Amino acid sequence: MSALPASVDELAAGLRSVGYLPGESTALVAYLAARLGKPVLVEGPAGVGKTELAKAMARYLDRELVRLQCYEGLDEAKALYEWNYRKQLLRIQVEREGAGWDEVQDDIFGEEFLLSRPLMQAIASPDPVVLLIDEIDKTDQEFEAMLLELLSDFQITIPELGRVEARTHPVVLLTSNNTRELTEALKRRCLYLWLDYPSNEQELEIVRLHAPELPTTVAARLVEVVGMVRELDLKKPPSIAESIDWARALLLLGADDLTPDVFKQTMSIIVKHRTDLETVAERVGVRLAGAPAGAS
Ligand SMILES: Nc1ncnc2c1ncn2[C@@H]1O[C@H](COP(=O)(O)OP(=O)(O)OP(=O)(O)O)[C@@H](O)[C@H]1O
Ligand SMILES: [Mg+2]
Repeated sequence: MSALPASVDELAAGLRSVGYLPGESTALVAYLAARLGKPVLVEGPAGVGKTELAKAMARYLDRELVRLQCYEGLDEAKALYEWNYRKQLLRIQVEREGAGWDEVQDDIFGEEFLLSRPLMQAIASPDPVVLLIDEIDKTDQEFEAMLLELLSDFQITIPELGRVEARTHPVVLLTSNNTRELTEALKRRCLYLWLDYPSNEQELEIVRLHAPELPTTVAARLVEVVGMVRELDLKKPPSIAESIDWARALLLLGADDLTPDVFKQTMSIIVKHRTDLETVAERVGVRLAGAPAGAS
């Protein structure tokens, strides 16, 4: 397990070494989170590297990644812990028939009968982990309230068992796509990172990292076009994930230039709404046809 980073630059270099290119504020916030032991709330549009940041932190710190994927209706039983009813029943049954298990203590509310879920695993782990609470905005406010004890005191209270305190301090990242406003109480406990679409230079670097064989000229053109597309008023602007997919597709197709034809054939990789497709074909397609930049 690696030690915590000694500086922002060290952390930035570390994230790069595991394939994540952090922007300036990303490196700073991630550094503070690791050193101050505070959770980070990462918000931003889809596909800009929120989830990947947590994965990269785990790779860089050489820690296990414990992931809680949130969804509507997620409750404590799936997030924290649950009693293993089957085992408890079995235990009661064995007792009744008097066959074996005598040596086992008869407390069916002991740790042995507990099924720990991600949040519990993260704080009970003997080695520190990176805890990713992904898409917290999909849960309801009651769930957020439940998280507060965990995020401020790093402990969980189980009525039948008592308090479980963290053995080690996890690095915690929460992500949100901003589909609903999170509570003030949650925000107060977290550092905040807004991840947005990257600059052209940064995105080019990310694309090159994921599709290194794609000719630089094509990659640069791709990033430029994606930038143009993002400027239009679309239902769903293309994300970094889509730039990467597009780069990989162009590579597979052996495209050595982004001609208007290539663009028309492949634009559904970055634009995924019928009305958006029309807008993009009209506005960007025409621009490409009119200004064959990149072509000699
Ligand atoms: N800074 C970066 N460096 C390297 N790769 C990146 C970076 N940002 C994003 N990516 C890549 O972009 C893709 C999408 O990232 P990710 O899944 O983390 O997005 P997200 O913000 O969690 O999206 P969603 O809101 O849809 O869950 C991943 O394949 C990831 O590797
Ligand atoms: Mg995600």
